[in-house]
Amino acid sequence: MSILLFLKLLVVQFTLYSPIPKVNIKVSNPLDYVDLFYGTEAGGHMFPGVTRPFGMAKVGIDVVGDGDAYSGFAPHGHVNGISMMHESGTGGAPEYGVVSQLPFQSNFDIRNLPSLTRQGHDIAQVGYYNFNSTDNIIVEFSGAEKSGIFKYTFPPESTNPQVLIDVCHHLAAPGRPQWTQYFVNGSIESNKDLSGYTGYTTIKGGWGGQTPWRIYFCGKFNNPAISIISFENKHVEPNKLSSSTNRQNEPMGLVYTFNQSQSIIESKVGISYISTERACQHLNNELGEPDEYDLMSVVNETQQIWLDEVFDKVSISDTNSTLTSFIYTSLYGSHLMPTNKTGENPYWAENYVEEGNPVPTYYDDWFTLWDTFRTMNPLINILNPIRGSELINSLIEIYKHDGFTPDGRSANQNGRTQGGSNSDIIIADAFVKNITGVNWSDAFDAMVQNAEVVPPYWRDNFAPDSSTKQGRGALPDWLTYGYITRNFSRSVSRTMEYSYDDFALSVVAKGLGNDTAYEKYLRRSSNWQNIWNFDKDISINSYKGFIQPKKSTGEFDYHNYDPLSCGGCYWNDDEYEGKPIEYGWTVPFDMTTLISFIGSNETFITRLNDMYALHGHNPQIVDVGNEPSFTTPFLYNYVNQQYRSVELIRYIVDRHFGLGAKGLPGNSDSGAMQSWLFFSLMGLYPIAGTTTYLITSPFLPYLSINLPNTNKPLELIATNLTETNIYISELYVNGEIYTQNWIDHHTLFDIEGCLIEFELSDIPSIWELGDEPPSPGHFKR
Ligand SMILES: *[C@@H]1O[C@H](CO)[C@@H](O)[C@H](O)[C@H]1NC(C)=O
Ligand SMILES: *[C@@H]1O[C@H](CO)[C@@H](O)[C@H](O)[C@H]1NC(C)=O
Ligand SMILES: *[C@@H]1O[C@H](CO)[C@@H](O)[C@H](O)[C@H]1NC(C)=O
Ligand SMILES: *[C@@H]1O[C@H](CO)[C@@H](O)[C@H](O)[C@H]1NC(C)=O
Ligand SMILES: *[C@@H]1O[C@H](CO)[C@@H](O)[C@H](O)[C@H]1NC(C)=O
Ligand SMILES: *[C@@H]1O[C@H](CO)[C@@H](O)[C@H](O)[C@H]1NC(C)=O
Ligand SMILES: *[C@@H]1O[C@H](CO)[C@@H](O)[C@H](O)[C@H]1NC(C)=O
Ligand SMILES: *[C@@H]1O[C@H](CO)[C@@H](O)[C@H](O)[C@H]1NC(C)=O
Ligand SMILES: *[C@@H]1O[C@H](CO)[C@@H](O)[C@H](O)[C@H]1NC(C)=O
Ligand SMILES: *[C@@H]1O[C@H](CO)[C@@H](O)[C@H](O)[C@H]1NC(C)=O
Ligand SMILES: *[C@@H]1O[C@H](CO)[C@@H](O)[C@H](O)[C@H]1NC(C)=O
Ligand SMILES: *[C@@H]1O[C@H](CO)[C@@H](O)[C@H](O)[C@H]1NC(C)=O
Repeated sequence: MSILLFLKLLVVQFTLYSPIPKVNIKVSNPLDYVDLFYGTEAGGHMFPGVTRPFGMAKVGIDVVGDGDAYSGFAPHGHVNGISMMHESGTGGAPEYGVVSQLPFQSNFDIRNLPSLTRQGHDIAQVGYYNFNSTDNIIVEFSGAEKSGIFKYTFPPESTNPQVLIDVCHHLAAPGRPQWTQYFVNGSIESNKDLSGYTGYTTIKGGWGGQTPWRIYFCGKFNNPAISIISFENKHVEPNKLSSSTNRQNEPMGLVYTFNQSQSIIESKVGISYISTERACQHLNNELGEPDEYDLMSVVNETQQIWLDEVFDKVSISDTNSTLTSFIYTSLYGSHLMPTNKTGENPYWAENYVEEGNPVPTYYDDWFTLWDTFRTMNPLINILNPIRGSELINSLIEIYKHDGFTPDGRSANQNGRTQGGSNSDIIIADAFVKNITGVNWSDAFDAMVQNAEVVPPYWRDNFAPDSSTKQGRGALPDWLTYGYITRNFSRSVSRTMEYSYDDFALSVVAKGLGNDTAYEKYLRRSSNWQNIWNFDKDISINSYKGFIQPKKSTGEFDYHNYDPLSCGGCYWNDDEYEGKPIEYGWTVPFDMTTLISFIGSNETFITRLNDMYALHGHNPQIVDVGNEPSFTTPFLYNYVNQQYRSVELIRYIVDRHFGLGAKGLPGNSDSGAMQSWLFFSLMGLYPIAGTTTYLITSPFLPYLSINLPNTNKPLELIATNLTETNIYISELYVNGEIYTQNWIDHHTLFDIEGCLIEFELSDIPSIWELGDEPPSPGHFKR
């Protein structure tokens, strides 16, 4: 087809509704726009190595000497291993960095284990990673679900091509020693012909305070080595085929030396929590017998999976390469965690041996739901309802086997809950979006467990008052007083979160036709109103009314209280990672009551304005890079002044987000930040646990979401869009004029598609004369 004819067809298609048709040239290869290093620096902690969507294997380099490398990666420092497992974008402390290899040429010295210095910048593409050492070893690798493939090219003059398998290797947190991981014990054994090895590593510690857990591995080389040495506890033994130890953090393992004439060494490694046999099975199933897959064929397959599962579902006009990169890079970052470990939970192993017992769906590495429930999970529920369903089923299975759904979880253990049981909101979100394949009665049981049962005590030195392992640690106060008193840490932020969580229970109860539970939890969702203090003696800029710590006697506690401060903002403070004034906005399920508490639409707007530097308040009160304030800039929609949300979102994106390694304003938080960015660029923002999306305005002239099982896509077309034409003058949905600044999920993702046309101009206007966004949890005490 000629390009002219192609353009004409597009024009014809769009003139149907659009008075000013836009020519759209779609992005030809989304993979070209994914920046794997996005958010790897400046605290973003993104993982730039190789993985498949939600893959258990995350193959990447581990760097020492450049700070705590949360994902293994750091731009400077030395590579002391290339390992099979990582997390991406987390705070807390580094996890995993286990099952490693390292090619090297120097003479092996157990007191000074080899490491590689990199030449220049590493290269990373979807499914592919490459760096070259200063001694000219070319390192390349790729990976599949539970396996990885490595290619080491030694310089032709190398007399000593070797590969180190350090079984003790793991990520450490020298900057946060209280949460560092420890190597407990391990074992490795080589094949007699020196063509491969199997073994395990046991690790403990980490952010979740994990008890010892074990990962098994199975490695193969494309050609046998010519000699081997074993090392353990500063002791080196040539020609020994195995090594093992019980000494904490002592290096142990094997070194393989290859024939000098063999300058290219290829290796494949499989991992499993179950057994070495299972690790070998994964390797063979995914990467085949020798020669079936080479490095580039694994790269191809991994890229194809990313296109099919993620990138090809979103089409955009290719008019601004910054925005194109933002879109595909943020989609990539939203699909890394949690990880699909179905069939890999060693504690549930009884399920895998009993014949006819279905393997329970299982995802691990939730880090954490506190971060992801607002935007990341709602994004998955749109783009991949099958994943959405698997995530909920996994939460149910974790509840059934381990007693409670997690907030944070890795290495197959629940651990660290920052606020409420926010899995409740994720379950409600999937429920109202008609995610299929879930037993909702079981899901509701898991929610009721969170809402009614005090989790077993688990001592946390940061907040010893109650458990932070799972569930709702401060539940006794919630049940007794209807708020959390200062007898418990994080009393204000927990009160706000438990309210949202109980709203989520009311949603599912209502849908299941359980009216008693619906009424009970709806009432409880209004508990945040109990800590709203109308006190006229506290005022900021003349307005009054803030959330505040409250005593069990019912009196507000004024000691050390300032709505603009959260003190240390940490585990043992009144609020976790957010000021009282920020947490005061976090009731999107009942904005009706919040607006009435604040007093008037005008004060509501003034108070929102005062949170942001856009309106001259410097330093900005909100932390736009942290989750408690994710929804706040969109809230103008609730008083039908949507243009203010539009200009604030533009301001936040332009000022706080950029391209490149330092482009994220803070931790990615398992893709929470990237999914926020995606929705903001799209011009639709989800209210998690409801079917409402708040409408702002798109950054791109064209974006569509094409899902399998629908006949037509969701299409967003913005006409007259420029840098300054950002305000809606008119909005059309499926060809009809639309006067609400919000829209329902089922309208957007109808099987027959949905077309939204934004007519933009440079003049802010109140165009939305229809109903303001709903408050489905409205309850006036
Ligand atoms: C490593 O060297 C190879 C071969 O010279 C080259 O193709 C590749 O771009 C280099 N990689 C990096 C990260 O510089
Ligand atoms: C390794 O450590 C684990 C956890 O402490 C322990 O259960 C196991 O017995 C140890 N293995 C050996 C071989 O000592
Ligand atoms: C190394 O490879 C060369 C060339 O194939 C061969 O002649 C030599 O015997 C090999 N050396 C060993 C120790 O296997
Ligand atoms: C992978 O290889 C197949 C067969 O050659 C090809 O059709 C496909 O486009 C490739 N995929 C990618 C992402 O390169
Ligand atoms: C592309 O979009 C970015 C982000 O909105 C903007 O800053 C930049 O000016 C745009 N570039 C062009 C060429 O329009
Ligand atoms: C998750 O892993 C299981 C076991 O490997 C697999 O059957 C399932 O299809 C995976 N889920 C997705 C969405 O790929
Ligand atoms: C979603 O499920 C609800 C309850 O089962 C049903 O009433 C509604 O029609 C469904 N919506 C769609 C779009 O499937
Ligand atoms: C949901 O699971 C429960 C057992 O936990 C079972 O009794 C019930 O029949 C299931 N419901 C459906 C719709 O499958
Ligand atoms: C309604 O939910 C409550 C939990 O709040 C549960 O105890 C009760 O059995 C449920 N009722 C029905 C009819 O399912
Ligand atoms: C909770 O704190 C109050 C003071 O606000 C104190 O009187 C009460 O004894 C405490 N309750 C418990 C159970 O510690
Ligand atoms: C506040 O704004 C809403 C939405 O536009 C409107 O319905 C309501 O009447 C306004 N309230 C007052 C007191 O003007
Ligand atoms: C397009 O934008 C211009 C300002 O650049 C504005 O004057 C005009 O009204 C807009 N057109 C429409 C149809 O909104």
